[in-house]
Amino acid sequence: MTADQLRELYLKFFASKGHAVISSASLIPENDPTVLFTTAGMHPLVPYLVGEPHPSGTRLCNCQKCVRTGDIEAVGDPSHLTFFEMLGNWSLGDYFKEEAISWSYEFLTSPDYLGFDPSRLSVTIFEGNEVVPCDDESRAIWNRLGIPDERIFALPIEDNWWGPAGQTGPCGPDTEMFIDTGKAACGPDCRPGCSCGRFFEVWNDVFMQYDKQADGTYAKLKQANVDTGMGVERTVAMLQGKSTVFETELFTPILAAIEAGCNKQFDGDPETQHAFRVVADHLRSSVFILGDDRGVRPGNLGQGYVLRRLIRRAVRYAKQLGLDEGFAAPIAEAVIANYSHVYPELKRNRGHILSELMDEEKRFAKTLTRGMAELEKVLERMAEHNQTTLAGRVAFNLYDTCGFPLEFTEEICNERGVTIDRAGFDKAFAKHKEVSKQGSDKAFKGGLADASVQTTRLHSATHLLHKALQMVLGDHVQQRGSNITAERLRFDFSHPDKMTQEQLAEVEKLVNGAIEKDFPVTMEPMTIEQAREAGAMALFEAKYGEQVKVYTMGDFSKEVCGGPHVGRTGELGHFRIQKEGSSSAGVRRIKAVLE
Ligand code: ALA
Repeated sequence: MTADQLRELYLKFFASKGHAVISSASLIPENDPTVLFTTAGMHPLVPYLVGEPHPSGTRLCNCQKCVRTGDIEAVGDPSHLTFFEMLGNWSLGDYFKEEAISWSYEFLTSPDYLGFDPSRLSVTIFEGNEVVPCDDESRAIWNRLGIPDERIFALPIEDNWWGPAGQTGPCGPDTEMFIDTGKAACGPDCRPGCSCGRFFEVWNDVFMQYDKQADGTYAKLKQANVDTGMGVERTVAMLQGKSTVFETELFTPILAAIEAGCNKQFDGDPETQHAFRVVADHLRSSVFILGDDRGVRPGNLGQGYVLRRLIRRAVRYAKQLGLDEGFAAPIAEAVIANYSHVYPELKRNRGHILSELMDEEKRFAKTLTRGMAELEKVLERMAEHNQTTLAGRVAFNLYDTCGFPLEFTEEICNERGVTIDRAGFDKAFAKHKEVSKQGSDKAFKGGLADASVQTTRLHSATHLLHKALQMVLGDHVQQRGSNITAERLRFDFSHPDKMTQEQLAEVEKLVNGAIEKDFPVTMEPMTIEQAREAGAMALFEAKYGEQVKVYTMGDFSKEVCGGPHVGRTGELGHFRIQKEGSSSAGVRRIKAVLE
């Protein structure tokens, strides 16, 4: 079975169980302040998991693009990826454990669907703690379906709890499904979750009934939800009898493009194979991030930083393979060709993807030349004084200020018989990490900071601002990002020039005019086509026929949005722009408050 067939079959199966098929949300979350990237299908659904009605009903399913970079060092092993596709089905306060587990089992083992031999299936459940009891209910359901206790493993919170790690939000115990690859056990303790690669985790059913509070306690959610995630790459590998995700059609054309650029073979020695896998994974992720309609570019903060890190890591491993400068473009083309039929945005944004990759490669090459010169100077001075240990602080500065990777410093030092004070480097690094938490998946401050009344008011004001900007500057104005806290709103939009004082005054006047008219704010679910026909502003994310929510503010603004919003524009008070400036090339940023 191919990945194309798996996606289709999964969605068909859940549609037959009453689920509405929704499209993949953007990789760049708009209204979830807890993550840099969409790391699971549930992220865009958080408002609905906590109780807001979803326009498509209480049963949903989709195939979601996901990026997770927490395990970036593990990429290169048989199953870890920084980008992956996740099939998911959701119950928003509708069905619960019985149906979720039975359907997972049916889909995995029925000859009409995936047809895995049930004897290859092992599962894990939550063992319980002082807050939530052992999930004996799930065990009983698995037993009834024919999974004996020997293949059910009760594990602690680190393994069988899904939710925002250390953060607030919906969460709960889960039951994870593993396919036995048939490899010999690595020891008496080998079990699902073991890193030896014998068991491949393919699916996770989360029973979301809790809402983690800021003080670390768990409140009961209004409704008991189901959130599931099946990894497309891993499942396809298992269906095709492969032992790694890289041997499937999702990767073979990408690996072939790498082979074409160097004179090495993918199935060479383990080190070469590892480098191939890293280059393929990191460039695939970069293509998807760059190809997202929300448009991210490499940079030093947030998503841009993660993207930069992925590209630069790919360059490092590409050098190891002997790929020449400019290597990224043909590999990116292979990714685009392999995925555009499922994710047409990649084709749409092809120009942006290729030019950003090439620019970042060039910038990194410059960085390397500069760092190399700097290191040479230091090594010369050291040689004059017969020193053979490079201070950790110096290695860190090369890394931090010059962007010169530690591995490169190590390599060059090795050649000259110089050792690096690693402890000193680690110390400087740890200090730096503490100071700037940027680059972690959890540092994102975009979208809505919370759902407080004041933040909601500023969110509604953002819609008025968006419309006013279009009226004053023209239809080319498009939202490129937002960041809303209880204190102020920040809004990024496409526009080539600095705004004049007159334009700013005009925008303020239009927004305040709309507030004074005290328009009712109404929400109507409709399909994306109806929304566009009705003239609603929308990002090009939803698929044909998909249900979306359209918020209307009188005859002033109409926009596709997840909410929340105020009831009437009169609740907003007085709108004032504090600052207008450049955000990045072709993108302006406005900061504004309500008084
Ligand atoms: N949200 C769950 C996961 O990502 C399904 O594993």
